[in-house]
Amino acid sequence: MLLHIPEVLGAAEIDELRQTLIAAEWSDGAATSGAQAIKRKQNKQLAANSAVGKQLGELVSTALQRHPLLISAALPKQILPPLFNRYEGGGHYDNHVDNAIQRDPNRQTDVRTDVSITLFINAPEDYDGGELVVEDMYGTHEVKLPAGDAIIYPSTSLHRVEPVTKGTRMAAVTWAQSMVRDDWQRSMLFNLDMTIVQLRQKLGDSAEIVALTSHYHNLLRQWAEL
Ligand code: NI
Repeated sequence: MLLHIPEVLGAAEIDELRQTLIAAEWSDGAATSGAQAIKRKQNKQLAANSAVGKQLGELVSTALQRHPLLISAALPKQILPPLFNRYEGGGHYDNHVDNAIQRDPNRQTDVRTDVSITLFINAPEDYDGGELVVEDMYGTHEVKLPAGDAIIYPSTSLHRVEPVTKGTRMAAVTWAQSMVRDDWQRSMLFNLDMTIVQLRQKLGDSAEIVALTSHYHNLLRQWAEL
């Protein structure tokens, strides 16, 4: 499931984040990659262990974890500390699949990446190109969202960032291990949850809505791994 999560950060928060990032010290993204990735990946990264990287990462992490749509769609067990990247002057990242297991440096635990998250820090008008292109079983999707919005997609998807031919594109990226590993099961739970919310708004509480809510929780109980 590919899902747009609006307003993870509000306008004032994202402006402040962007200004801090513009002034930060960036390093070559390929430096942290293997030889094979160097040609494929041309961007800049903020060192994950820098003071500013940690502080901004925490801000984004907190915002993600308080967003009800993200919680419902990703059912996160653990979200990795976000990383920041910057593309300009033709910078791009060719088709790839993200590493399946990543180390959480804070908790010193391994995290299975089920859901990938990209938070857009620049407005789409700030740059040309730079679309996140995600290929899944339903086709190819081009994503370029307002500043402060995020996209989530299954980490099993092949994806790329198109060359940024004008301006600067900064983003925060992270990954979640979900309580429900299977993307299709997560999608069904999300659709059921959203339908219950809409029914409740339309009809108020009723015995049928309580029954559907029980059904949701009992499915989650069947499928969740903790
Ligand atoms: Ni990736």
